[in-house]
Amino acid sequence: MDSARGLTPSSPARPSRSNRSSRTILRSVLALGLVLACASTASAVKREDFKTCAQSGFCARNRAYADIAKEAPDWVSPFQLTPASVRLRNGIFTADLINTHESTNPSPRPPLALELHLLDNDAVRVRINERDAILPRYDGVQETVLVKPYGFASDVTYELSTDTASGTTTIQYGSQNQNTVKIGSAPFKIEFLVNGVSTVLLNDEGLLRFETLRRKEEEQKQSDDDSDDSDDSKLVDQDSEGESSEIVIEKSELEKKLEENLWEERFKEFTDSKPRGPESFGMDITFSGINHVYGIPEHATSLSLKATRGPDAPYSEPYRLYNLDVFEYEANNPMALYGSVPFMLGHSKNSTAAVFWMNAAETWIDVEKSAEDKSSGLLSWIKGKKTLSTPTTKTHWISESGVLDLFVFLGPTQRDIFRQYSSLVGTTVLPQSFAIAYHQCRWNYNTQQDVAETDAGFDEHDIPYDVLWLDIEHTNGKRYFTWDEPKFPNPTDMQQSLASRGRKMVTIVDPHIKMDSSFYVSKEGGELDVYIKNKDGKSSFDGWCWPGNSQWIDFYNPKARDWWASQFSYDRYQGSTKSLFTWNDMNEPSVFNGPEITIPKDTIHYGDVEHRNVHNLYGTMFHSATAQGLTQRNETQQRPFVLSRAFYAGTQRYGAIWTGDNMATWEHLEYASPMLLTIGLAGIPFSGADVGGFFGNPDAELLTRWYQAGVYYPFFRAHAHVDSKRREPWLFGEPYTTQIREAVRTRYAYLPFWYTLFYETSVDGTPIIRPMFTEFPEDEAVFAMDDQYMVGNALLVKPVSKPGVTRSTVYFAGSEKWFDIKDYSVEQGPGFKEVASPADKIPVYQRAGTILPKRERPRRSSKAMENDPFTLVIALDSEGKATGRIYLDDGETFSYEHGDFILREFEATGGVLSSRDARPASKEVAKVSDFVQRIAALRIERLVFVGSKVALKKVSVGGQELPVECVLAPNGGGHVCTVKEPRVTIGEDFELLFE
Ligand code: GLC
Repeated sequence: MDSARGLTPSSPARPSRSNRSSRTILRSVLALGLVLACASTASAVKREDFKTCAQSGFCARNRAYADIAKEAPDWVSPFQLTPASVRLRNGIFTADLINTHESTNPSPRPPLALELHLLDNDAVRVRINERDAILPRYDGVQETVLVKPYGFASDVTYELSTDTASGTTTIQYGSQNQNTVKIGSAPFKIEFLVNGVSTVLLNDEGLLRFETLRRKEEEQKQSDDDSDDSDDSKLVDQDSEGESSEIVIEKSELEKKLEENLWEERFKEFTDSKPRGPESFGMDITFSGINHVYGIPEHATSLSLKATRGPDAPYSEPYRLYNLDVFEYEANNPMALYGSVPFMLGHSKNSTAAVFWMNAAETWIDVEKSAEDKSSGLLSWIKGKKTLSTPTTKTHWISESGVLDLFVFLGPTQRDIFRQYSSLVGTTVLPQSFAIAYHQCRWNYNTQQDVAETDAGFDEHDIPYDVLWLDIEHTNGKRYFTWDEPKFPNPTDMQQSLASRGRKMVTIVDPHIKMDSSFYVSKEGGELDVYIKNKDGKSSFDGWCWPGNSQWIDFYNPKARDWWASQFSYDRYQGSTKSLFTWNDMNEPSVFNGPEITIPKDTIHYGDVEHRNVHNLYGTMFHSATAQGLTQRNETQQRPFVLSRAFYAGTQRYGAIWTGDNMATWEHLEYASPMLLTIGLAGIPFSGADVGGFFGNPDAELLTRWYQAGVYYPFFRAHAHVDSKRREPWLFGEPYTTQIREAVRTRYAYLPFWYTLFYETSVDGTPIIRPMFTEFPEDEAVFAMDDQYMVGNALLVKPVSKPGVTRSTVYFAGSEKWFDIKDYSVEQGPGFKEVASPADKIPVYQRAGTILPKRERPRRSSKAMENDPFTLVIALDSEGKATGRIYLDDGETFSYEHGDFILREFEATGGVLSSRDARPASKEVAKVSDFVQRIAALRIERLVFVGSKVALKKVSVGGQELPVECVLAPNGGGHVCTVKEPRVTIGEDFELLFE
């Protein structure tokens, strides 16, 4: 392939940051029809384009409050519960919360309303909202994020503490009465205990702060009065005889900060009008006895979150959740990226707990690790401060608007937490089987000819792939749903040609619509009035993105969603076929001339909702409307496939995501693992990073190592920037082509295992790729480990992320053996061991005690493997036992929802390998399709037993002996025994004896 061919983009490539920030330059450049130069890959992120906490008014105010609390030796939260207001009925606890700092205020605001919902799945929802606010605070996130109404705990016992000094209310509940919720009233705080062990505390540091809505005129008057008092505030003190004297208290610098940037706020050349004024809130959440917290993607950082506060904190900025298109993002940085999931999990040897801060506005989170605190628990409860035992992680959550709405998940195990969380926000939708195979993308495949040649290149080099992607240049001037006809004269033929080899195509469709009355989508959108509005709530907002002047669809408008979904019908989207799927990009949304490269916060959505409140959900609303469109375009509904860049909690219900515009550097390869592990923990398992790195030109070694790692990403796609050199897997020649082929084939061989993992996460939310601590929750050595991880419970993967490496240090956890998946050499846990990682492989091991299903015949696509027989690799543990599962269905439709699937459980124990039907009894089987019946009859063509201390002498099934061949594993440590043609099928019950 000629690397220089056809690379002149027909439209503005992404302007560099400095260009982007200037509306004028952009307008004139685009008016001239010039092609802007793409940013050089040598430059780094333009930090100045994005706010720091100090530049974000509400973050600065809440952080200042935390500083005030920290500096005051006797700081106590001013919030108190009004004892007379406390109620508990049908699993809902309610009470009034008053701010005692306001008691001197001549017209104090109404108390806040506290609500606790005790859920039947060992989660507790905590809500704090304004009572009688002058305007309703935005409370609509739940409508789009929660999947269904939840049940309340029924067996609640409720005791009012007899300890009047602390005024503590204790609620004990749970199926074994294992959960305790202790609510302290003065000061207000909540402690959650599981089996008597303290796990999560709310407001223990006293950082709860709630900016109640106010009127600008009153605020103005107040500030005039204050300035009359020349910046001092006066308190009237009464002595015992009732004589009053005036005490003048000067506000500290920190206290002054609490009053800054309340209304209009400027950042660079942008003004946020903030018509409702300040409405932020913050609260501290402490993970007691827990030193490692994880989650809150998306950040390019380590798996175990680093501290942002405290003496030795590696970061000085809080983690930010605000979906942004951060050009050339930096690794090892808490800056916001494309997606946000305010879910955090804390784990220690003794406890696991998690929280979900359900808010879609801009949010910042500080993390602080505490040193040992020796204060006594009971005493400190009474004093209202620091009940904590060592070690402890304190976090401080700050959101710009909405209501405080928090779920606390009490586990007690990680599995329980994944189940509890996913029962609220939904599990991953089962993808079509092609979607978990390999995807080939670049910006751009330029012509139909280019597509055909690339497709042929894979066959020529015997490298399997399933999907070819077309980026923005395939359209007529970035008008999505159209084709650049001279370059793609016959898109239907093109897709059919791919489909004839079992392959699919994906085209990009972004949420910005080119303003052009001759473009039918733009015209209809205008007529239907479905665009996001300017702050006046009337005119449609317009800004700059790939097509030039564009408008953004308001996916909060039900009419817009339906209209959008209908765009994917075959008669609307001309040139689309059943094998065409969709890529949703730039949906943070990215607006090149907007503040922080996104849409202004004061723009307005349907129902008069300010964008500020829903920013982090916008991309997900787009993603879901697209998925709806793909689902409804066929009579027999096919599962959709939509890739999104922006995400929020619940995105898993609509499709896959990727980590955006990474760089072709070793560092970005390294950071892909913790990023993907974190995203998976937060409930979104179908994720990947651009293999090869988006910006720049990987050398052959980096590209090969990235393929070898990418094989173990749930979403496996190579992608490259328009300015990068061509890098299809064969372009670097030998030995790289062979090495890459080998890697991609390994993905295909394990597809039955991957598909089974997708099925499992679709049931209970357990991540597909898992941090070591998820599989080995008691081994402290792995709590911060993020350079190796598990695929399911069975494969241990250690990507090579440094150049010139031929040996890697791998941690083998647990006390069982691990088997190299290529040659079955054996390693024994626990401990670190240096193993070979030559250029043609990275260390990947199967864990003893597992059985993995594979398909070992190399084919051109996953579709072509559909009728292939299976291999089972049985990795016996020290007791000669192993278990595993396989899930199979038609890979396309929703008929699996009606029980049309195969789920088998394999077990090896006591010299018997058995297969039994493991379908849940609840799954009614309407009719098993012909497809599934055919698949069920496919042969198991090979059994490989590893880990046996002695060579197997005899293997038989149904009384018939089967030939078995054994060899010694290369580094000793056991035998590898292969049984060819064991005369059993994948879908039948069998018992096979081995000795
Ligand atoms: C964005 C995407 C990238 C894509 C490009 C052009 O930068 O993140 O993947 O290639 O836009 O559409």
